[in-house]
Amino acid sequence: MKDVLEKTSAATEEFRAHVLAGLASTPKRISSRYFYDAEGDRLFQQIMASEDYYVTRAENEILRDQTDAVLTALANGHQRFSLFELGAGDGAKTKHLLRRALEMGRDPLYRPIDISENALEQLGTTLKKELPALRYHAEQGEYFEAIERSFTDPSEAKAVLFLGSNIGNLEHERAVELLKGVAQNLGPNDRFLVGFDRKKDPATIRRAYNDSEGHTRDFNLNLLRRINNELGADLDLDHFIHTPVYDPSSGRALSYIVSTRDQQVHVPGSERTFHFKAWEALHTEISQKYDDEMIADLAKRSGLRIADQFTDSKGYFSDVVFAPKETMS
Ligand code: AVI
Repeated sequence: MKDVLEKTSAATEEFRAHVLAGLASTPKRISSRYFYDAEGDRLFQQIMASEDYYVTRAENEILRDQTDAVLTALANGHQRFSLFELGAGDGAKTKHLLRRALEMGRDPLYRPIDISENALEQLGTTLKKELPALRYHAEQGEYFEAIERSFTDPSEAKAVLFLGSNIGNLEHERAVELLKGVAQNLGPNDRFLVGFDRKKDPATIRRAYNDSEGHTRDFNLNLLRRINNELGADLDLDHFIHTPVYDPSSGRALSYIVSTRDQQVHVPGSERTFHFKAWEALHTEISQKYDDEMIADLAKRSGLRIADQFTDSKGYFSDVVFAPKETMS
């Protein structure tokens, strides 16, 4: 119990420090990694189920219609291998892959890594019920730390999943750092699958980040609610609006929360009064969209090569399987 309380208060203090620094910076910004409290998780589930958010459907189509080919590319000849997943969430997509792997007589050890202890517990419970034969070992933490901690056995065959366009939520340099971090810990026959959301009609992208049911708006504004609830701040939720934009040239979809009037904000833990001018923006999220050149460039800078690529029927999304560059197989 003491451990849990210490962990919770360390997480709250880390959140407070991030928010104070973000509100003090110009332009103001708070990372989308703080979207995911219990309410944020619930809202993200609603986004994924919504008509306008095509991302989840497109990747599901790949994993459903090309399951065996994806598994063959991932296992790369191994019957027993560790299947790591960065940011596993509810593991809905992976469950399907794992079920099929077991049916094919493969013996994966599923090793999901997620920041949310809650999500991992739920995932463990469902997997025990639905796939009792599956070997399972979850790891709670940030991707970077968890990779260093758990990719320790060089003799064990590894496949790593980074699904759902989670890579798109990282700034370019951070994405390169993550791919490099994984690449450096892969053996020559290991594989790394990354889900990329592709550039497409800007109207389709704009709808996905401003869905007609308002789930994405609530998802962004929930960040402010979280700051009030957890940190005791006094943000006035009635005077902020969700404002997503898409730049088709860079492929950057950016979400902002814009203040509709001049207002002052206090966050306990700081003597400072933070000032929002009318129409001042707080940047919350980047959701990068990619094309083939950008994916090839990322691979090159990270010491990876493209071994396989799977795309949905509309050309909206690609699951790209990377291998370490030196590999000759
Ligand atoms: C988790 N991530 C890939 C989502 C995305 O598309 O960037 C998060 C999200 N933000 C708004 N809608 C969905």
